[in-house]
Amino acid sequence: MLLEARNLRVSYRSSNGDVRAVDGLDLDVDESEIFGIVGESGCGKSTVVKALLRLLPPGAVIEADILRFKGRDLLGISPAHFRQQILMREIALVPQSAQNSLNPVQPVGAQIIEAIRAHSTTPKARARDRVAELFDIVGLQAELMARYPHQFSGGMRQRAMIAMALAFEPSLIVMDEPTTGLDVLVQERLLGRIREIRQRVSLSILLITHDIGVIAETADRVGVMYAGRMIERASTIDIFGESQHPYTLGLKNAFPSIIELDRELISMPGSPPDMSSPPQGCAFGARCPFAIDTCLSKRPPPIEVGKNHISSCIRTANIGQMRDAAKRKATWHS
Ligand SMILES: Nc1ncnc2c1ncn2[C@@H]1O[C@H](COP(=O)(O)OP(=O)(O)OP(=O)(O)O)[C@@H](O)[C@H]1O
Ligand SMILES: [Mg+2]
Repeated sequence: MLLEARNLRVSYRSSNGDVRAVDGLDLDVDESEIFGIVGESGCGKSTVVKALLRLLPPGAVIEADILRFKGRDLLGISPAHFRQQILMREIALVPQSAQNSLNPVQPVGAQIIEAIRAHSTTPKARARDRVAELFDIVGLQAELMARYPHQFSGGMRQRAMIAMALAFEPSLIVMDEPTTGLDVLVQERLLGRIREIRQRVSLSILLITHDIGVIAETADRVGVMYAGRMIERASTIDIFGESQHPYTLGLKNAFPSIIELDRELISMPGSPPDMSSPPQGCAFGARCPFAIDTCLSKRPPPIEVGKNHISSCIRTANIGQMRDAAKRKATWHS
């Protein structure tokens, strides 16, 4: 296993007390896989990313029973060592809104050359060749290196950021909302390219998105995140075909499907809990149409509901009925 987190907790300090943005999350990413994390805005996805890459703001507290990368305890590595040895070389990031993080007054190629040279002693000419190579991997022509960010489309800028992340052949690239803000066709092409990159370069990708459609197209396995926890984890096929958690069922209802074009979209009423006082029981309990008393009082443990399929719902014995009921609007809006 490449990356393993058990009971990961991250809190931010805020004027209203601590915010538990990640609240006991389990995660594992295997070699050469695309693992998708999907969840609503504010559920803690970017916080997981920042915790993994040591980019949390001062005052934030990170704890975990296990946080290992290639068997090494990540929390035991000093910040300086992390920056020199792990960041970019082992784990690279394509941050949220990456399209907008290029410097507008410098050609794109020069920026990546500079990034390579800031992290290594690579001579300029070699760095330039490397960027041409990286551009080729992400499907950008080498001539584009001399162009400025405003001459790139959003999709091209995102590819350039992926090229930068690939520079030191990391084993893991974390992509935070790589398709957000791109129009649907550009999104499609980018996702195709991401799959291709994974074929060409031996690499795992942790892909973070609020869009379950992006996951469906790209990920091998999925973790569904809610209120700082991973509430369901399985292969992409099982998450869609054999959903075991009411939140996952609700999430699927709310997004258009290319398989059932005429299906009515059903939104999930309510909003996630306030994480300055995380709920005692199931985080989704207050919104769940299937919740019983125990759900609200006791935190549901992760249960192995199938082969490599984990769901934190105590009612999975009734999953057949819940799946049928979840398709009806009245179940959610009554
Ligand atoms: N620096 C911070 N200080 C205090 N609270 C924070 C800070 N950063 C994030 N939060 C809170 O932590 C929670 C998780 O935020 P996070 O950005 O991780 O969510 P997200 O799932 O990435 O959302 P989005 O889909 O909008 O990107 C939110 O409630 C957010 O308000
Ligand atoms: Mg985010």
